[in-house]
Amino acid sequence: MKIYDWKLKKINKEKISMLTCYDFTFAKILNQTKIDALLVGDSSSMVIHGNENTIGSNVEDLAQMCASVVKGAKAKFVVCDLPFGFAFESNDSFVAGIKMIMASGAHAVKIEGVDGLEDKISMLIQMGVPVMGHLGLTPQSIQKFGGFKVQGKSDESKKEIFKSAQKLESLGAFSVVLECIPSDLSETISRELSIPTIGIGAGVNADGQILVLHDFLGLTDFKAKFVRQYMNAGELVKSAVDHYVDDVNSVQFPNSDETYL
Ligand code: KIV
Repeated sequence: MKIYDWKLKKINKEKISMLTCYDFTFAKILNQTKIDALLVGDSSSMVIHGNENTIGSNVEDLAQMCASVVKGAKAKFVVCDLPFGFAFESNDSFVAGIKMIMASGAHAVKIEGVDGLEDKISMLIQMGVPVMGHLGLTPQSIQKFGGFKVQGKSDESKKEIFKSAQKLESLGAFSVVLECIPSDLSETISRELSIPTIGIGAGVNADGQILVLHDFLGLTDFKAKFVRQYMNAGELVKSAVDHYVDDVNSVQFPNSDETYL
């Protein structure tokens, strides 16, 4: 998938599938699937680094993970997240961070929110960096929301999210993630915008869907309403490890084929 395919898919009413990815090994596996695009998300702060939220993420880590993902998933469109607070850095350090991310091989960046970030988003577009927006439950604003809570429930909040989506489109974003919002709002935004929406907890009418890889594989205990676990990899790993330990203890591993003679 290339940058121009995003709009084409929307025009042709073809859904867009995305998963997050943070490392070379998974990227190599995902590269051999039908997935359209990958996000090196700041959710890595939680599923890779074990933090309670995404606030501790930083540009260096994201750029490093992005380089690994791009090496593994050569055929995929890779979006890299911008971390908490990064868009409020001085222009010099903002540009330095963006250079680091783009040098890692990212095809685009994702930024949470839009109000107060118009200049930085325009700067990215002028630099030739495709921008994916992110509205609704923007996890970097978790403290403002008081937790991981569905957004866009009241009429006022619906209007605000809708206006933000329109603003992102007019600034030149190529797509927007809609996280944890009611499906009617997601449907309206997806209908009114010419750029594709990617939903996570935003119902079936978004133009595409994204899930966090580790939730999708059943590697985490995160069981939000919108998560569908496609396998229970956590259980598979545990049972393989216990099998290995039993084999070690009972001197069944290694056998003669696994031994240099
Ligand atoms: O960081 C992330 O994984 C994300 C997705 C949840 C959209 O931003």
